Amino acid sequence: MHSSRLIIPVALAALTFACGKPPVEGGASAAPASSGTSAQVKQLMTARGLSEADVQAALKTYLPSGKLDEYLIFASGGQSGQVLVIGVPSMRLLKLIGVFTPEPWQGYGYGGLSDAVLAGGQQIGNKKLTWADVHHPNLSETKGDYDGQFLFVNDKANARVAVIDLADFSTKQIVANPLVGSDHGGAFVTPNTEYVIETSQYPAPLGREYAPIAEYKEKYRGLAMFWKFDRTKGRIDPSQSWAVELPPYTQDLADSGKLVSDGWVFINSFNSEMATGGILEGNPPIESGASQNDMDYLHVINWKKAEQLINAGKARTIKGIRVLPLEVAAAENVLTLIGEPKSPHGADVTPDGTEIVVGGKLDTHTTVYSFAKIKAQIEAGKFEGKDGFGINILPFKDSIRGQAEIGLGPLHTVFDDKGFAYTSVFIESVVAKWSLKDLKVVDKIPVQYNIGHILAAEGDTVSPDGKYVVAMNKMSQDRFQHVGPLYPQNFQLIDVDTEKMTMLIDGAIGIGEPHYSQMIKADKLKPISVYKMGTNPYTDEIDKFAVTPGKERIERKGNVVDVYMTAVRSHFTPDRIEVNEGDTINLHITSVEQAEDQTHGFTIDMHNVNLSLEPGKHENVTFVADKAGVFPMYCTEFCSALHLEMTGYLLVKPKK
Ligand code: CUA
Repeated sequence: MHSSRLIIPVALAALTFACGKPPVEGGASAAPASSGTSAQVKQLMTARGLSEADVQAALKTYLPSGKLDEYLIFASGGQSGQVLVIGVPSMRLLKLIGVFTPEPWQGYGYGGLSDAVLAGGQQIGNKKLTWADVHHPNLSETKGDYDGQFLFVNDKANARVAVIDLADFSTKQIVANPLVGSDHGGAFVTPNTEYVIETSQYPAPLGREYAPIAEYKEKYRGLAMFWKFDRTKGRIDPSQSWAVELPPYTQDLADSGKLVSDGWVFINSFNSEMATGGILEGNPPIESGASQNDMDYLHVINWKKAEQLINAGKARTIKGIRVLPLEVAAAENVLTLIGEPKSPHGADVTPDGTEIVVGGKLDTHTTVYSFAKIKAQIEAGKFEGKDGFGINILPFKDSIRGQAEIGLGPLHTVFDDKGFAYTSVFIESVVAKWSLKDLKVVDKIPVQYNIGHILAAEGDTVSPDGKYVVAMNKMSQDRFQHVGPLYPQNFQLIDVDTEKMTMLIDGAIGIGEPHYSQMIKADKLKPISVYKMGTNPYTDEIDKFAVTPGKERIERKGNVVDVYMTAVRSHFTPDRIEVNEGDTINLHITSVEQAEDQTHGFTIDMHNVNLSLEPGKHENVTFVADKAGVFPMYCTEFCSALHLEMTGYLLVKPKK
């Protein structure tokens, strides 16, 4: 629209105006006249070593105190097991949402009601999972567009999916996949969030059983899980969920079809060789064994047909989940394959749903598949053969529209509102902008360095916004002050509304290693500010133990003590809890605040109890007072001038 040359003088004029120069044409009217500010700005630029382009970038990202960001990024927190919420264009970190791991500030996983959410993701008896490899956050959609209601995210390491409610930005549910041992193609939603899709990564015997590695081809399998999402309850319903068994080809990323391709899912794979390593046994390592073939397989799943077959009783139930067997999926063409260039990574459906863009890590192209051609060939039974599992293979050349020559190591692709695609190019360390119309690269911008995922403003919906692209880089040498050998990750904000893409700002991410992220227009979110008094946030109902002011009490039945407590500025009632050593204590605490941002915290010395009591929130904590002593309890949020006085004692009398 406007070239960067035009913007610089305008931007500088805006800056000088802000400093008191007479208004330029089109500026606001009531500026006091003074002189010399332009020189001041120039001085400042010289002193700070800033170019005009730097000033322009600063003007596009700077938010004066009190101004709000236009977009929010929901970013994978990687190994932290959390989700990061980041404002755009400021790149300010707004929140860490505890998801798969405890998050102390939110009191998530420290004795209160949230413990049950975390427990939902535990699977193997005595192995308590205290970390996750968070990969791909996905916002709920209505008609293929973000609706701002829910966020889903997967844990690659332990094959889990979490549901986060964006009414209060807290994690409500974690489901562990009982069938597979890792996932990658998740947590992608269908266009109306009927399902949350989770596809496996490393094949294993379904149901988490044992089989010798020599029986890899016979017994090891991939899986596409379709978790049924109940939007009215805001929870996944495992009893209505089902899966499609896949060949052991190491499925990678996935994307749902939309609009014309609604009802279909596209999944990459990268080890059609079925290499299983065995270096000590004299075999090549998996990385080279898996890179022998020139082509791997794009998996095309007709999920609406799969759903019909599941409902018609064609499934085999494994660990309580209905699984459509591979032979049925193949015979019914629920699953078909198409060649895709070497070691693909991203499979991204275009905003209009007509095409699928695949990037190949070891190829220099992105390949653009035509959904119409794919569908027509499946319907006409036009296949070039079958793979070793009896799955029909569509001819590659007749399934694509063409290929775009991108550069070294294209990974992921997102889209704007003007018909352009943006592909992250790992080895070349650039973002490549190319035209979907003629598949020609029109611009490249270097990134620092080695970009993995990429995101754009609403860039994977039916109506992308353009404006911003974020490069999610894997390395950041020379970008930040050194903080030891583990460097920050670097999210670079790029302006894509300028004729040439322009780098705006480096966003240091101190928690890693992030994978995918999504960016939503902030005004689509409608978060609450306070809970209705006595709300259990994990049932979204008034808790049956909720306490109202004046009804605080301590009840003893044998060696069980129920404490009904309220928290309000600046005291807990009761503030003394006297029990006997060995008693079981059920603590019920309601914050009876209803004022915005008036949060209290609650902790007890040496008991690892730590709660966040946002206005109206209720918490239940159960523990055994197994050590005699005097244990201070206090409010952990600086809630008022008398915050330090918001305290009390747990007094545990010793056994005689
Ligand atoms: Cu309540 Cu500090």
